[in-house]
Formats: sequence, structure tokens, C-alpha cells
Amino acid sequence: MVKPPILDPENQPADDSGLHPDAPRHNSPWKWMLLMMAILVVLTTISMWGREKISIKATVVVPELDAAQQSGRAVFAEKCQDCHGVDGSGGSPKGPPLIHPMYRANLYPDYVFKKVLRDGKREKNWRFGAMPATKGITDQQIDNVTAFVRAAQIASGID
Ligand code: HEC
Repeated sequence: MVKPPILDPENQPADDSGLHPDAPRHNSPWKWMLLMMAILVVLTTISMWGREKISIKATVVVPELDAAQQSGRAVFAEKCQDCHGVDGSGGSPKGPPLIHPMYRANLYPDYVFKKVLRDGKREKNWRFGAMPATKGITDQQIDNVTAFVRAAQIASGID
């Protein structure tokens, strides 16, 4: 529908918007949208900042070990401790504790445990990054490490 022209020469639009000077003007939504986006960016940054420093510590009880478990403990100290903490207790910024209810035998069976420690896995359950494959580990060492971690889990009340 064509608007009738404004005939009163005293009452012309102040700008070239074509609107009557008394017509209500709406503020642009852009500045509010930008402000909301800025707030979102700040909140996201803060929440990710917190995640980066995550480290989880467990209290581990190491029981009396047989020979295989003892050599597993030594392999663990050499190849796993840097990321999973002394005896799997965590407290490292590079990996989770393995003495953790999530990894108890009936939930996380030995064959999965052995596959992960041999081949590694992508970041999934935590925010520590990926777990690398363990280079140069023998099948015997894999069995021994697994036996050691299971013994420590059970002695720590996780079974
Ligand atoms: C460079 C650091 C690093 C080393 C070394 C390392 N891990 Fe890991 N491991 C990780 C990270 C990080 C994760 C968590 C991955 C995720 O987000 O699910 C992990 C996860 C695991 C998991 C659980 C996987 C799951 O499904 O949640 C097991 C079991 C494990 N590691 C065993 C070992 C053993 C045993 C060794 C030594 C032979 C070892 N890791 C060496 C970093 C490491």
C-alpha cells in the first residue's frame, strides 16, 4: 500500500528515512547481540581456563606384591608414572589416576586395559589430551603392569 505523502511543509521527516518525525524509532539490536557474544566469549574462556589445570589425586594402598606384580610396578614407574602418577595415584596434569572406580576390573576388563596401554587412545573421558601408544613394551610387561594395577586397585578398596 502506498503511503500518502506528508503534505504539511512544517512537519517533514528530520532525516531521509521517510518516517514521520513523531514515529517511534527502534534502537538497533546489533549492540546488544555484540555485547552478548562478548560475554559468551569471556565465560567460555574462563571455563576452559579452569579445565586446563585439572589434576586428580587418589590415595593408593600398595599391597604385598608377587614377582610379576613387582616387575609390573617397575615398568609402571618407568613408562606410566609421568602421566598417571606414582603407582597410578594421579595428581599429574598429563593424565588421570588409574586407581579410580571407573577403571575397576568388572567395569573396565583386562583386555581393554591392555589394549589401551599398548595402542593408546584419543582424548575421551578426561581433558588431559590423548594417551599415546607405549613404545617398546613387551606382552609380558603388559601383563605385569596390568597385574600390578589390579592388585593396587583391590588393596585401595576399588574392586
Ligand atoms: C603421555 C602421557 C601418558 C602416558 C605416558 C601414559 N598414559 Fe595412560 N592415559 C593418558 C591420558 C591423557 C589418558 C586419558 C584419555 C582419555 O581422555 O580418555 C590415559 C588413559 C589411560 C587409561 C584409561 C583409558 C580410558 O578408556 O579411559 C589406561 C588404562 C591407561 N591410560 C594406562 C596407561 C598405562 C598402563 C601406561 C604405561 C604403560 C600409560 N597409560 C601411559 C596419558 C598417558
